Amino acid sequence: MNANTNSATTTYRAAVVRSPQGPDSIEMADLPLVEPGPGEVRVRIAAATVNPVDLGVAGGVFHRLGLVHQPEHVGLGWDFAGTISAAGPGAELTVGTRVAGLVDGFDRDFGPYAEELVLPAGNLAVVPDGLDLTAAATVPLNALAAAQLLDLLGDAPGEGRRLLVTGAAGAVGSYVAALAPARGWEVTGLARVEDETFVRGLGAEFTAQATPGWDAVADAAALQNKALALVRDGGAFVGVQPSARPAAERGIRVDVVVAHPDGTRLSGLLADVASGRLPARVHAVFPLEQAGDAHRAMAKGGVRGRIVLKP
Ligand SMILES: NC(=O)c1ccc[n+]([C@@H]2O[C@H](COP(=O)([O-])OP(=O)(O)OC[C@H]3O[C@@H](n4cnc5c(N)ncnc54)[C@H](OP(=O)(O)O)[C@@H]3O)[C@@H](O)[C@H]2O)c1
Repeated sequence: MNANTNSATTTYRAAVVRSPQGPDSIEMADLPLVEPGPGEVRVRIAAATVNPVDLGVAGGVFHRLGLVHQPEHVGLGWDFAGTISAAGPGAELTVGTRVAGLVDGFDRDFGPYAEELVLPAGNLAVVPDGLDLTAAATVPLNALAAAQLLDLLGDAPGEGRRLLVTGAAGAVGSYVAALAPARGWEVTGLARVEDETFVRGLGAEFTAQATPGWDAVADAAALQNKALALVRDGGAFVGVQPSARPAAERGIRVDVVVAHPDGTRLSGLLADVASGRLPARVHAVFPLEQAGDAHRAMAKGGVRGRIVLKP
């Protein structure tokens, strides 16, 4: 997928990777400004988040998996918030509207680590009044991943409702833990000892050391086979690493979520954030030019919530 570059009179700045070798390979580039096509809008980015997947892109993980084929550079980032700066024919959102959204897929030369971004209006949700764009940017990827993970898991059965969420203090895990009770699950969050208060605040039970026997495990910490081993025979497991799906065993149903844009669903999730039902946590804010430093900070660990980049 390549950006539409038919309007090259002005440019915008973006953080991109030409030769993926980790944070040092992130560089700023001036790119031709893109005009939105039918049903598309252009968003002036106010905030873009740093997610674990971005470290993988900059480190070349997805190039090595054969998922990136860009001749010049690969774009960075998945979720963001900003303000619509141009609307294409038929787009249902108007200039000036505050929005948040998600760009998925690996093989692209554009992304939210940028001043501007063009994408289908249907992938966006209007940010509720009272929710600032920095906080809103932390929501789309991980709240959608959690909601879509729960779609794979399904509603809890009449009996056997005990769900363990690994990484319950993390971005995906906290949303899974908060959303799962509405689907009938009795949630216990596996997290670090120091995260107990946060996890209980989501309405979940807490453990720092889980023993086997759970009806279902949502593996938001990507513990993989260690998490699969915690599921009872015939239970359910949903993972978060599509390129490393654990093999099914002992009659366990194994699924893996692949988060995808859904503007309508995101609207509901942002409303839940605005009402305080779901968290939106900002760990730190970096200027876009310091995306490499932001990646280094994320790689050190101990991040709670998201690091946010501001152009
Ligand atoms: N497939 C998809 O669509 C999709 C979408 C979004 C994210 N993901 C993936 O989901 C995973 C989680 O992403 P995230 O953004 O939620 O990461 P995150 O915010 O760093 O959360 C991970 C959490 O798990 C905790 N953790 C790790 N090992 C643990 C253990 N043994 N016991 C207890 N807690 C443990 C971490 O604690 P520490 O920081 O202390 O280690 C952290 O709190 C990543 O692999 C990401 O790539 C996949």
